Amino acid sequence: MARNRYDVDEVLEDSFDVNQLKRLGRYIIPHKNKMIGVIVLLLSSSALTMMTPIFFQRIMDYYIPAKDMKMIAFMAFLTLAVSSYYAIAMRYKIRIMSEIGQNIIHSIRTDIFNHLQELPFSYYDDRPHGKIQVRVVNYVNSLSDLLSNGIVNTITDLCNLLFILLFMLICDARLTLVCLCGLPMLAGVIVFIKRRQRRAWQIQSNKQSNLNAYIAESINGIRVTQSFVRERENNNIFNNLSGSYRKAWMRAVKFNFTMGPSVDIISAITTSFVYVLGIRWILAPDSTLTVGVLIAFTSYIGRFWAPINTLAGFYNSLLTAISYLERIFETIDEPVLVKDAENAGIMPPIQGDVEFRDVCFSYEEGHRILDHINFTAKKGETYAFVGPTGAGKTTIVNLISRFYNVDSGQILIDGTDISTVTIRSLRTQMGVMMQDSFIFSGTIMDNIRYGNRDATDEQVVAAAKTVCAHEFISQMENGYYTEVNERGSRLSAGQRQLISFARALLADPKILILDEATSSIDTETEILLQKGLNKLLKGRTSFIIAHRLSTIKNADCIMYIDHGGIVERGTHEELLKQRGAYYDLYISQFDFLNQNEASTAGN
Ligand SMILES: Nc1ncnc2c1ncn2[C@@H]1O[C@H](COP(=O)(O)OP(=O)(O)O)[C@@H](O)[C@H]1O
Ligand SMILES: [Mg+2]
Repeated sequence: MARNRYDVDEVLEDSFDVNQLKRLGRYIIPHKNKMIGVIVLLLSSSALTMMTPIFFQRIMDYYIPAKDMKMIAFMAFLTLAVSSYYAIAMRYKIRIMSEIGQNIIHSIRTDIFNHLQELPFSYYDDRPHGKIQVRVVNYVNSLSDLLSNGIVNTITDLCNLLFILLFMLICDARLTLVCLCGLPMLAGVIVFIKRRQRRAWQIQSNKQSNLNAYIAESINGIRVTQSFVRERENNNIFNNLSGSYRKAWMRAVKFNFTMGPSVDIISAITTSFVYVLGIRWILAPDSTLTVGVLIAFTSYIGRFWAPINTLAGFYNSLLTAISYLERIFETIDEPVLVKDAENAGIMPPIQGDVEFRDVCFSYEEGHRILDHINFTAKKGETYAFVGPTGAGKTTIVNLISRFYNVDSGQILIDGTDISTVTIRSLRTQMGVMMQDSFIFSGTIMDNIRYGNRDATDEQVVAAAKTVCAHEFISQMENGYYTEVNERGSRLSAGQRQLISFARALLADPKILILDEATSSIDTETEILLQKGLNKLLKGRTSFIIAHRLSTIKNADCIMYIDHGGIVERGTHEELLKQRGAYYDLYISQFDFLNQNEASTAGN
């Protein structure tokens, strides 16, 4: 999929794939016994209620003329009993079906979420997060109505229709035929609106998705918005998006509203024909119809159109649901591009030799980011990447953890190509600290322990001490048990970095990756941290990306990356001697520091 944004509609499927309904069926099947129970209950109750017009017809045509009060009372009692049974059955149905509906929704939602957990970085690179959220929450919820009532109602309504037809035929076949003339008219309406209705709902779901994407983006970016006083512009964008959503919704729902009145009008037309013809037949000299039969029949007509009306409603919610189902299943079917090879083995305990063999990589086709990268890293040594922003440093280290697949070439750890082992066995042996350190909601203890679920409190504290985070954590009101929000909004950027740093160490990895791990940390803390770290890096292969050259001066090998290639490599001293890009960088930092010192001294 091409990269998507909040103001770009997602591509719509043209024709409807019936398999999607079949797949929905798979979620429904486990609940089939309960559903059948409910259907039997409903059918029995509606079959019984179907009798009541007959009771009336009997009273009118036989028991009133015969003045048989006993039978009249008995018929009244039967009517009451039938209505009570029906009422109880309906309540029970609502309870059971809501439960089944929610269970199905829960399973679908769980499937999407589980799949989302596995989808690679590239999936998230390609689309706004709000558009992913809307699928898991809103779209799935929109199926609720269909699942909790729609299916059972449809089955029972179809059966009811057959019952009613039967009773109508028993009453009078001619009037039944008149009534059935309404059905082709209804079919005409459906054929006319079907395609437009489906498209309208697809568009509506797209607009909802766009709106959601913008809301999510705005919340994430609220600080920048407010600092650049962009609120008014954002409100305008929001107004436009919300306006298109409203318009799309109104357009889609207009089609749904067409169905109800169409059924009503067709029902009114056929009923009036039934009355006209019925009365003519009653009044005809050779009267072929009794008043009682006509009254009973007209009460069946009402019941004949009621299920058709709900069936039309079901048809509406089905079309609506399909536009969501397409998106839901699309997410569940999204291929996991970075996954275990078919006969992937387990990564043996890592020693720490890493080799990039002619690795090429691009995020988007045709736009190469890494160009034939070759290097070997020996176990236990420290490798540093420096170079301008956007050179490809983060990309290189992301490939070591196999967050993306390489286009060509190989990455080997201890001689094993990482694409041939399970991702789990690979990543559990690595400690990665990413450029933007993410903090989850929970305690600081939980956040550090994210790196290793089995770590004891003491191990967590030890890791925090190593990265000099212990002091600030102890000073917080509840120490390690202080609750932090998602993204750690109550922590400073440097504090967040220290926590993620501790998290990466806790896994006791043989390979440690630190992507600008100390960029927000003051120099004093960094010097302290460096001391602890030197001990800690022993025995681990580490890859460090840093802009402050003091951080990486002692690395066993420094690689200068530019335009996706390694331009220079060597130790600090060797590179300085070369007087190339690294040297220039060093001098510029040196000059910068000197100038600052000079200006401070001058003040
Ligand atoms: N997810 C992504 N999708 C597409 N391009 C990306 C992505 N991440 C980074 N890039 C591009 O790849 C290049 C290298 O990025 P990166 O490795 O993050 O650089 P840096 O050296 O600053 O860490 C940059 O030009 C950047 O625009
Ligand atoms: Mg980077």
